[in-house]
Amino acid sequence: MGFTIAIDGPAAAGKGTISRAVSDHFGFAHLDTGLLYRVVGARMLDGEDPVQAALALDVADLGRDDLRTAEVAQAASKVAVIADVRAALVDFQRAFARRSGGAVVDGRDIGTVICPEAEVKLYVTASAEVRATRRFHELTGKGSVITLAEVLEDVRARDDRDMNRTEAPLRPADDAVEIDTSSLSIKEAVAVAIAAVEARR
Ligand code: C5P
Repeated sequence: MGFTIAIDGPAAAGKGTISRAVSDHFGFAHLDTGLLYRVVGARMLDGEDPVQAALALDVADLGRDDLRTAEVAQAASKVAVIADVRAALVDFQRAFARRSGGAVVDGRDIGTVICPEAEVKLYVTASAEVRATRRFHELTGKGSVITLAEVLEDVRARDDRDMNRTEAPLRPADDAVEIDTSSLSIKEAVAVAIAAVEARR
């Protein structure tokens, strides 16, 4: 029997870390759906039509090593406003979510559009300043030359595009458990998320 944990929230709120920890804890498979949009964004930067790129999505592309750059993140949020791109990615995400053995699926519209029937929905958030500071340390730690002000501007631009688009805008599902990680350590945030899942098992 499938058991789906949908985890949504804005960039750098801690979704990825929480999703990996929750999937490890329960022994569930994990899909980071942001990577699907990043692949399409990267292929658009390569000169491909984004809708064609989404229709021809190849799981091997999920291993491309440029997917975590700020440039690809912006391209991902641009292709993510295109209804036909989103539609092309639905079946893959739903099939993954319902696989036997359980799945953690994280993104922006998992609890609202992809898996409205998910057994557990979490909405992970934090202030834009806290998220930008985390992302800044992550990017500079990997050798990127970027300022905190630039990262904050990127985070705000992406939030604005993700929350105000017509297609599947980022928002908490009505029955989502909200976790604000602004003043939580990773350990505390993970513990809150696991407790929220346990409460619904
Ligand atoms: O989560 P990540 O930062 O990798 O997502 C990159 C972009 O992909 C987001 O800014 C968002 O525009 C888009 N996205 C989406 N729906 C999802 C996951 C990601 O629109 N389920």
